[in-house]
Amino acid sequence: MTAIEDAVRGYYTRRLAEHGPTPRGVDWNGAESQEVRFRQLLRLVDGPYVLGDYGCGYGALLGYARAAGFVGEYRGYDLAPAMIAAARDRYAADPRAAFGDREDVLAGCDVVVASGVFNVKLDAPVGEWDGYVFRTLDRLAELGPRGFAFNALTSYSDPDRMRPDLYYADPCRLFDRCKRRYSRQVALLHDYGLYEFTILVRK
Ligand SMILES: C[S@@+](CC[C@H](N)C(=O)[O-])C[C@H]1O[C@@H](n2cnc3c(N)ncnc32)[C@H](O)[C@@H]1O
Repeated sequence: MTAIEDAVRGYYTRRLAEHGPTPRGVDWNGAESQEVRFRQLLRLVDGPYVLGDYGCGYGALLGYARAAGFVGEYRGYDLAPAMIAAARDRYAADPRAAFGDREDVLAGCDVVVASGVFNVKLDAPVGEWDGYVFRTLDRLAELGPRGFAFNALTSYSDPDRMRPDLYYADPCRLFDRCKRRYSRQVALLHDYGLYEFTILVRK
């Protein structure tokens, strides 16, 4: 585990201990914005795919996807074992779901989505976090042979509301990188009312 991953794991483990398996426990303001994000990401899932959830937290995406009619296989990965324990507890009755605190639980996925994994950089320098984002995108591309999707806070946020411990990505730069590196079929969604954007990459 890298120093970045170690710090991120500590941060989210503390959030969960404080707020339990709730949107606040994974550092979102509430269920409404969490679900707005899921709705964007699930635009990628337009077939009976095996769906991977990278940074799944307590597995809220699975509940949302099932309620929206998704009947396929789901796999959730999170680097925080406490999150995985909470997710397993919550979805024990779902025979088409599996969770793990190692990336290899995502083996065999068709598509992979990641909600919120790039936002909290803590005190990592921006340049270092850029590299971390790029490496993670390479992983998502490898794990999702049919495609992947992710969100990030936007560099178009109001300057007076930006925080030094959060990472604000340039949507144009990431769109360009995805287009050149992973696939010609890339969508940039920046129209859903939050200070962030979603990128869908279809392969
Ligand atoms: C903002 S929370 C969102 C959780 C979930 N995706 C949701 O929307 O409810 C981000 C989650 O991703 C996990 N995470 C962050 N970076 C990760 C990484 N590199 N690999 C695996 N999990 C990661 C954290 O432990 C945390 O549970």
